[in-house]
This record gives sequence, structure tokens and C-alpha cells, in this order.
Amino acid sequence: MPEPLLEFAGVGYAWPGAAPLFSGLDLRIAAGEKVVLLGPNGAGKSTLLRLANGLLAPSAGCVRWQGRTLDAASLRQRDFARAFRRDNVLLFQHPEAMLFNPTVHDEIAYGPRQLGLAGVEARVARWAGELGLDGLLDQPPYALSGGQKQKLALACLLALDPQFLALDEPTASLDPRTVGWLIDTLLESGKTLLVSTHNLSLAAELGERALVLGDAGRLLYDGPLAPALADLELLQAAGLAHRHRHRHAGVAHAHLHAHDWESS
Ligand SMILES: Nc1ncnc2c1ncn2[C@@H]1O[C@H](COP(=O)(O)OP(=O)(O)OP(=O)(O)O)[C@@H](O)[C@H]1O
Ligand SMILES: [Mg+2]
Repeated sequence: MPEPLLEFAGVGYAWPGAAPLFSGLDLRIAAGEKVVLLGPNGAGKSTLLRLANGLLAPSAGCVRWQGRTLDAASLRQRDFARAFRRDNVLLFQHPEAMLFNPTVHDEIAYGPRQLGLAGVEARVARWAGELGLDGLLDQPPYALSGGQKQKLALACLLALDPQFLALDEPTASLDPRTVGWLIDTLLESGKTLLVSTHNLSLAAELGERALVLGDAGRLLYDGPLAPALADLELLQAAGLAHRHRHRHAGVAHAHLHAHDWESS
């Protein structure tokens, strides 16, 4: 494997007052990889993405970005922090938490301005246009619909032209047309992706590699996506398939089922 862009080396993490979530977590993501992060509610997907984005610090081991340990000291170094914040971005699971500017225009312009990037207005125009937000540029973000907020949060990240995007359930409130646009945009961009989702169709289209977390942060699988999506037992452990009781011709029996992937 080439030199990783992002590396977790023996990472441990526990939320205050809670049992350890991760311990000894090792994973490496190379530039250009498209990784899908699967796991049931509470497995630790959002926590892992926050560790990857330097928002949380591991309690053991370390997270490295381009070979450099992410810690309070490196993130205080102006040049490193600036490049890291441009190149490694996180879409929150609840993107309204990211939105605080008075208008949609200012929200998209904020990151590029803060980071001193060139062509701020062109970036705003491009990504507002791509995401169909151009008629809403003067609106306050709080006045947008849930899906429009998610689009705005995406526009804010894409306007930075980052190398690596960590996306936490990015399609939760997007309509299918926008989901299709997002998949095409991300795949054409050649960017490195780490995307958490419960949506198996999205996973299948977007990812090449799957990370599957089981209950309490245990990494159950790290490998090619296709075999993971064909493994119903693994999908069940990831909260993506479940045993269902069906009645066929008056006879009840249990089926292992992955919704949104199979119709039987
Ligand atoms: N801010 C927090 N403070 C304390 N505990 C937290 C916090 N955020 C998450 N946790 C705990 O960490 C564990 C993992 O949560 P996390 O949000 O990472 O899971 P997830 O896989 O993203 O779940 P979901 O599919 O519901 O989004 C859970 O047990 C949760 O209760
Ligand atoms: Mg989550």
C-alpha cells in the first residue's frame, strides 16, 4: 500500500464517563481511496470521523495526516493547521450544527475566506449553482429545508476543494436526484472519501472498500466492498440486515434481509 494519507495507529477513544469505544484501532487510507464506513447505530461511525478530522483527540495511539501526528501542538501550527483544515473536511451528521452565517452566500464564502483561498466569489457561484442553491443566496441558512441545509453544508466543503472528505450520512435528507449528483461529483473528483452510511445502494455506487464497525467500535471488516455487501451475516452485524418474520402461504418463517438492496 502506498504511503497513507490518513492513518489510525493503535487508536483508543472513550467518551467521558463511558466504556472505551475504540481500542487498538489500526487503519490506513491512501490518497484516492473511496471507503464506506458501515455499522449500526452507536457503533462509533461519527466518532471515528471526528477523530479523522482532528476534532477529537485519541486517548491512546495516534491519528496521522500525511505522516504527521494530529495533536494539539500540530494543530496549533498555523501553516499545518491551515492546510489541514482546507484538505481534510467533515460533513456533520446533523449539518445545521455547521451553519452559523447570516446568509447562504456568506456561509459558502466563509471557509475559503478564512483560509485565504483565491476566487471566493467564483467558488460560491460554482457550488451554489451545482447544488441548486443559487436562488437562495440571500436567505438565512436557518430558513432552508432540511435537504437544502445538507446541500449548503456540502457546498461549504466542496468550495474548499479539499483532498479528503469525511461525510457522515451525507444523503440522509437528500432527494434521489441530488444523491445521484453527489455520487457522480465525488467519483469524478478523484478525491479521497470516507463516507458513513446506512444506505447500501449509495455504498455500492460510491465505495471500493468497506470498513464495518460492530457494536461498541469493534472493527469487524476492512476490505473490498463487494464481498462485504454480499455477506448477510456481516451486514446483520453492521445493522444493515435483519431477521424478518414473513408469512408465505400462511407459513411464518424468518429471513435475513437487507432492505434497499434486495426486494425479496
Ligand atoms: N458527545 C458524546 N458524548 C458522550 N458519548 C457520546 C457522544 N457522542 C457519541 N457518544 C457515544 O459513543 C458511541 C458511538 O456514537 P457515534 O455517534 O459515534 O455512533 P454512530 O455509529 O455514528 O451512530 P449512528 O448510526 O446513530 O449515527 C455511542 O455509544 C454514543 O452514545
Ligand atoms: Mg453517527
